[in-house]
Amino acid sequence: MTRQRLHLKAPDNWVNDPNGFIYYKGMYHMFYQYFPYAPRWGTMHWGHAVSRDLVNWEHVGIALFPTKRGDQNGCFSGSAVEKEGRLHLLYTGICHEENDPEDIHANPEERFVACQMRIVSEDGFHFDNWTDKHVAIPVIRNEKTGDKTHTRDPKVWRGTNAWYLILGSTVEKEQGRVLFYRSEDLEKWDYVNQTGKGPGFGWMWECPDYFEVDGGKALLISPMGFLKNREKEQNQAIGFLVDFEETSCEMKIPDNWQFLDYGMDLYAPQTALDAEGRRTLMGWIRMPKPTKEGWIGMFTAPRLVEIRDGKLCFPLHPNVRAACSREIPDVWEAHPEGYRAVFSLEEGEEISLGGFYIWRRGNRICTDRSHVFPPFAGAHLKSETPELSGEIHLEVLVDENLVEVFVNHGEAVISNATYGLGKEISGSVHSGIKLYTL
Ligand code: FRU
Repeated sequence: MTRQRLHLKAPDNWVNDPNGFIYYKGMYHMFYQYFPYAPRWGTMHWGHAVSRDLVNWEHVGIALFPTKRGDQNGCFSGSAVEKEGRLHLLYTGICHEENDPEDIHANPEERFVACQMRIVSEDGFHFDNWTDKHVAIPVIRNEKTGDKTHTRDPKVWRGTNAWYLILGSTVEKEQGRVLFYRSEDLEKWDYVNQTGKGPGFGWMWECPDYFEVDGGKALLISPMGFLKNREKEQNQAIGFLVDFEETSCEMKIPDNWQFLDYGMDLYAPQTALDAEGRRTLMGWIRMPKPTKEGWIGMFTAPRLVEIRDGKLCFPLHPNVRAACSREIPDVWEAHPEGYRAVFSLEEGEEISLGGFYIWRRGNRICTDRSHVFPPFAGAHLKSETPELSGEIHLEVLVDENLVEVFVNHGEAVISNATYGLGKEISGSVHSGIKLYTL
């Protein structure tokens, strides 16, 4: 599976977080957390896929793998920036203080340390793992600054006068926080500041992302242990509209937060600017078990990030709509890699897309994947958006393993992994339904 369309999926075995997402020298590069030996999480490598349009993807092999003491047990998540034509990747190196003798790929709880590492590539395709890796931020040994074990996932951006980086961390393994660093050259990094939200927002903040977008500044985080009452999906990606002062790296995080996706499967998203300078997000879709072809883990379709009425909205990226725009009279003519359904729902109307149910209750959209998802203890089967505004317009991107429901052009999104999704569409939709495919 080296070429894929619409959804970027594991080429084989295991993937989790998107990493190093960037538009660089005319191409989109998407790296990802990859375990190449089995369909389970293990010693992390960076897999690598490229695309010219965010729709057609090609996997091009492994970019990063452990070679140094700092990353001997894994190259964890990180990000990419371009400087003077070269591609710089910053990521977290993991080093076990002790191994599990029966499984060196397992990550023994609390018995590892994390440092932040950097590697440079001339062209975005060649990475010299033997000579070009350097430690950017050593293991933090001062507990006041951060946690030596749980500090990871550097996201770098170019500020007005310097480079900045945000890291996810924890205060005494009880409260999540983010750390800010500054650099003149991407090589030497100085700690500047940190912030958090106190109790109630998870014990560790993974994969932070900070950016400006028309109408505001956003902080995205993936807090661990955020939802206490869920067995399997305690970790959730959420977003805030924040105040941020660059020089002091002072960030004010309000009490208002929102889920990035109401399907509860999206985690550890990452954003980048697309070819036209629009903020674009892709996230990892968690899956409970490998597919029948033996791979596990995939990414959402790209979404734009917009602020509307003081809320973060995530409409489907226009490139996907443009690629998936051949109108078809019925679903049996859809391309095997998926189709797009567009319709409105009135109160009481319900539709089944191959066994994935979508209906409207008041001004909420609800979904149920029970018929197309394996029985899995604690799994989240039914989803629902908050109350939405006005007429309810839906745009649904459907493929065998992922259904993404964009409501009111990204005012809310429900994305759900599926297994064994059928073809047939049933239900009555007053407005009619339009279908488009590749
Ligand atoms: C989030 C995460 C990151 C870490 C990576 C390891 O899913 O736990 O914090 O860098 O996955 O694969």
